[in-house]
Amino acid sequence: MSENLKATLNIDGSIVELPVVVGSENEKGIDISTLRSKTGYVTVDPSFMNTAACYSKITFIDGEKGILRYRGIPIEDLVKLESFTQVAFLLLHGNLPTPQQRVQFSRLLNLNSMLHEDMRHFFDHLPRGAHPMHILSTMINAPAIFYPNVDLLSINEDIDLSSARLISTIRTMAAFAYKKNIGEPVVYPRHDLPYCANFLNMMFDSPVAPYEIKPEIVRILNILFILHADHEQNCSTTTVRTIGSAQVNLYATISAGISALSGPLHGGANQAVVEMLKQILADGGNVKKYVELAKDKNNPFRLMGFGHRVYKTYDPRAKIIREECHKLLAHMDIHDPLLDVARELEEYALTDPYFKERNLYPNVDFYTGIVYRALGIPENMFTVMFALARLPGWIAHWKEMIGGTTKIVRPRQIYIGQTPADRA
Ligand code: CMC
Repeated sequence: MSENLKATLNIDGSIVELPVVVGSENEKGIDISTLRSKTGYVTVDPSFMNTAACYSKITFIDGEKGILRYRGIPIEDLVKLESFTQVAFLLLHGNLPTPQQRVQFSRLLNLNSMLHEDMRHFFDHLPRGAHPMHILSTMINAPAIFYPNVDLLSINEDIDLSSARLISTIRTMAAFAYKKNIGEPVVYPRHDLPYCANFLNMMFDSPVAPYEIKPEIVRILNILFILHADHEQNCSTTTVRTIGSAQVNLYATISAGISALSGPLHGGANQAVVEMLKQILADGGNVKKYVELAKDKNNPFRLMGFGHRVYKTYDPRAKIIREECHKLLAHMDIHDPLLDVARELEEYALTDPYFKERNLYPNVDFYTGIVYRALGIPENMFTVMFALARLPGWIAHWKEMIGGTTKIVRPRQIYIGQTPADRA
């Protein structure tokens, strides 16, 4: 991990040596953990623009080259796998499951797919029309009430069981939240269906019209979930690690992650993109006007689905989704005018000097919503879909953090408020 390299800091006339750490992909960092005790200084880095908050073995991103790998496997290979649950297992355990492990994991997912029946009644008392993302972040806390020993369990029990319980029940909750939102009776999970097919069935089956599960829809949903399954230290994962570091139970920790994800600068962007594309279309489809608006520093409007803190080139996930989106719409014989607007907007923005100079490219959220629309998933469920997919990543990071030597997360600050002298 580390080499014999040292960084030298000249501060107040004293020379301080700080160790240099090197990751397995040759990423280099300066370990400043002893800086304050040696010098009295702290480092300042608002929004963690330049801070590695942990060591991790889960996901690697090269934002300059557009590389994304989970546990050393390129995302382009992972999307060829049959099921999202294989990737969930990979994130949690470090290796893809053997056939036997796959069967065991599926069995655990099935065994834990039902909600406590009393918990189901909660859904009946939530306001009609509540946003499913709000319902999800609220309801994910409920197992801690129904299973009082969950605090202990989530830290000590077999991680496979707690992960399976969460991964499986969150899918049931998400589908229940949707059914509640549209005023239809809930559909229970089925043991004979794999993860994504089961979710689609819970979303779209109804007492009056049985849902036909189509393999191409299941396939694309698996791809989308695999692409979203982890993304190292993003805002919601950092939230999970931060909250989890106080040894909060896993359900409350995940609930905090879901809330962080809901913001439009993070997972909420997939819904915001479709709203923006609709607005452009309704406004005559003038993409140039909206690119100019996004460049105007006096206007808060931004091109949603564009830009990324880490990627300074095309997001590899967006590349895959764009291709799959075209294939799916052609296969389903759908002509979505929003796809035309998205294509034009992308083309125009990518040639604009403002976007070029700042390396602003489409991110994972740019084409996702158009795919979800084709699957019949409503806009207010888009970010919920992201949450279901990101859950294995959150749990993997929580597990890594709990199993490591992490202390409670507690940054410092530079106080710039009043002093007693100002008050005198
Ligand atoms: N439209 C117009 N200008 C932009 C955009 C955009 N979408 N994104 C960044 N910029 C400009 C920004 O104004 C700034 O310009 P200047 O240097 O003149 O001040 C420069 O590019 C750097 O942007 P930043 O806001 O400092 O970059 P950041 O790393 O803090 O923010 C971001 C990253 C993703 C929050 C931002 O690009 C953004 O708001 N994008 C739109 C929302 C979005 O699509 N979010 C989804 C992100 S990917 C999935 C996920 O994380 O969940």
